[in-house]
Amino acid sequence: MSDIIKIKHKINNFNKKIKVSSDKSISIRSILLASQAVGISKISNLLESEDVLNTLKSIKKLGIKYIKSNNIYYIYGYGLNNFKNKKNITIDAGNSGTLARLILGLLVKSKSNVKLIGDKSLSKRDFSRVIKPLKMFGANIKCKNNLLPIKISGTDFLRPITYNENIGSAQVKSCIIFSALNTPGKTIINSKISRNHTELMLKYLKYPIKIYKKKDFEKIEINGLNQFKAFEYNVPGDISSAAFFIVLTLLSNKSQIIIENVNINKSRIGIITILNKMGAGIKFKNRRNYNGEEVANIHVKSKKNFNSIICPSNLNSSAIDEFLIIFLVAAKAKGISKFKDLGEMNKKESKRLDLAVKFLKLIGVKVNRIKNDISIHGNPNLTLSKSFVMKNFLKDHRIFFLSCITALTLGGKWKIYDKKSANTSFPKFLKILKMIGAKVN
Ligand code: S3P
Repeated sequence: MSDIIKIKHKINNFNKKIKVSSDKSISIRSILLASQAVGISKISNLLESEDVLNTLKSIKKLGIKYIKSNNIYYIYGYGLNNFKNKKNITIDAGNSGTLARLILGLLVKSKSNVKLIGDKSLSKRDFSRVIKPLKMFGANIKCKNNLLPIKISGTDFLRPITYNENIGSAQVKSCIIFSALNTPGKTIINSKISRNHTELMLKYLKYPIKIYKKKDFEKIEINGLNQFKAFEYNVPGDISSAAFFIVLTLLSNKSQIIIENVNINKSRIGIITILNKMGAGIKFKNRRNYNGEEVANIHVKSKKNFNSIICPSNLNSSAIDEFLIIFLVAAKAKGISKFKDLGEMNKKESKRLDLAVKFLKLIGVKVNRIKNDISIHGNPNLTLSKSFVMKNFLKDHRIFFLSCITALTLGGKWKIYDKKSANTSFPKFLKILKMIGAKVN
């Protein structure tokens, strides 16, 4: 099957109700925590994307059984640090930074040696951010230049740490929390605000974790070595996947969409705050709770005019995976939008800040970049008619989605490579696009 798609027409007006794929961050965490629980956990609505399937394969290699029946995953945990693999193994995290970084935290006391590898994109990403705190715990880690492959062999001499997490990375914070679960005593993390799914899940499991809100960080205290029971969990929809349909609707003509059951955790909805400041009028309806996480239906209508924005950088962490698609709205806004301190975008599946600038220039948008700050000169009349080829973007799923939404809202004749990259986070993406009327071949 071809790995290329062609889009030659903008999408016609639509009025639809959709469900996007389940949340990737929450799916990965639910599996990893179920692998540490005592008993059989039941997870429904698990995202079946490559990153999550690689998480299931990883726990299986570590001797944890799982089965799927009637759309529920049953995961058989034996408690903390009770992986049942006998020999040394290799775990392939594929494209997933979240899986690779979080699972390292669970392996600090592993009874066998584990080698962690990943795909071309993950093998370029820096692991010093997790190696540093894990070594402070006493973990045995070997690698070259802080890159994969990483070898980790368990130790019985772990000690709790106090760590200042200054990046605002939930992967780093969660890796430390996972390592703390296997470490005697109290670990303390002074953490710059980042997505808090791990903490909410542990609270839901009644694990002894305390969170103190400070002015611009959180102090998290975890007492290690407490067993927790198997649990039931229902994974909500992913705001990072919904983001592409939100912008598709905003930039289309006379259209509306309701996206049902989306996780609206405060640490994830930077995109809504930013787009609403730009005049998008996005609404949350029927707000409710799923296992400690807030969920809502998102209502969006097309808009003709958007204001530019000076984006406060304290929103960066809660919108970090969505800036690519936010920039597209900035490109159609009236005036110059400014975004600051976006260096973390270049540490993702591809160098997303570099690629975003290239992409915006490709579609004729004026962009100024100074280090990690960019200014986007919006043009409300921006439409495209030329031919575009999107290739060589390290198979980054979010660049693929951005290209499709640009083609469907601004026009032009597009040939977009690496269609399979959608499977990383949002396998139903093209199916939903077609269902709401997009002509995609
Ligand atoms: C994630 C955290 C973010 C995000 C990534 C998923 C997570 O990365 O970009 O897609 O599930 O913890 P960082 O924690 O490195 O910012």
